[in-house]
Amino acid sequence: MIALDQVVKTFGQTRAVDGVSFQVEAGRIFGLVGPDGAGKTTLLRCICWALKPDSGSIRVGGFDAGRQSEKAQALIGYLSQRFSLYEDLTVLENLQFFAEVRGLQRQDWRERSRMLLEFVGLAEFGDRLAGQLSGGMKQKLGLALALINRPRVLLLDEPTTGVDPITRQDFWQLIIRQVNQEGLTVLVSTPYMDEAARCHRIGFLRSGRMVVQGAPGELRSLLDGRMVEVTGTPVEALQRLARQVPGVQSAQRFGNRLHLMVEPQAVERVSVQFNELSRQEGLHIERSSGVPSTLEDVFIALSEGML
Ligand SMILES: Nc1ncnc2c1ncn2[C@@H]1O[C@H](COP(=O)(O)OP(=O)(O)OP(=O)(O)O)[C@@H](O)[C@H]1O
Ligand SMILES: [Mg+2]
Repeated sequence: MIALDQVVKTFGQTRAVDGVSFQVEAGRIFGLVGPDGAGKTTLLRCICWALKPDSGSIRVGGFDAGRQSEKAQALIGYLSQRFSLYEDLTVLENLQFFAEVRGLQRQDWRERSRMLLEFVGLAEFGDRLAGQLSGGMKQKLGLALALINRPRVLLLDEPTTGVDPITRQDFWQLIIRQVNQEGLTVLVSTPYMDEAARCHRIGFLRSGRMVVQGAPGELRSLLDGRMVEVTGTPVEALQRLARQVPGVQSAQRFGNRLHLMVEPQAVERVSVQFNELSRQEGLHIERSSGVPSTLEDVFIALSEGML
């Protein structure tokens, strides 16, 4: 449903998207992750042709996004990162406005709006001014707006950033239901690894390049056998010390635990040396053991160019 081949988009000297290729099959959810400024928004804007790429090809539902742009765009629903509602219009009026822009007939949008408000849990709020909705409710209305034209392809740019965890769950349930029931294809950017883990495939962008793509399990396994979890006190001093142990590539803190990423085949050696050094420094290690890597570990390693 979505196929990109060597897409490039520059802004002056900045190569915001630098030769990106990937495909998303129908009825699948593809997650775009990567640090701030990696090019996620630029890529999504190119796909819906809000930005014209410098080179490369983009196809949506088999249509060329540039040469057959009307046909391609008719398939797309897009929720932008900082989308704006008309705050002085009601929820229903916002839906009507978006429906008219997307060319829906009046009898069509009324029924569709009712159904969508029900779907996103805003059925009771049709007459409320959009400006008076909570942040999470605005995101749900945003989703309803993006779905108004019955898109086959949904592009979501960080749809749940700044939204509480329960609303995030609700939001994903809604998306997954659309995917399962209607065969919707979704391309979603997200800073949350628990959300990335729900996608069928994940693409990791860094400096405009897609450096890795694969199923969540495949990405997670990139650091298999290279993560060590350490608990002990004081944890700050242990973190500083860990960074000096040869073979330790990073030492991240998660609450009172340390996650060490070590060079391949170095777990044993690092554990022994770290124990030894901390004893010399008068620090106390309670437990140190190899652990399976998480998507967070992989995200950090990829962001910092260590993978
Ligand atoms: N309209 C623009 N004009 C100039 N530079 C831009 C423009 N839009 C984006 N950029 C630059 O392109 C790069 C990619 O930005 P983009 O917004 O696509 O990143 P992102 O991955 O969406 O980041 P975030 O996670 O912060 O949303 C950045 O260096 C950014 O400063
Ligand atoms: Mg962005």
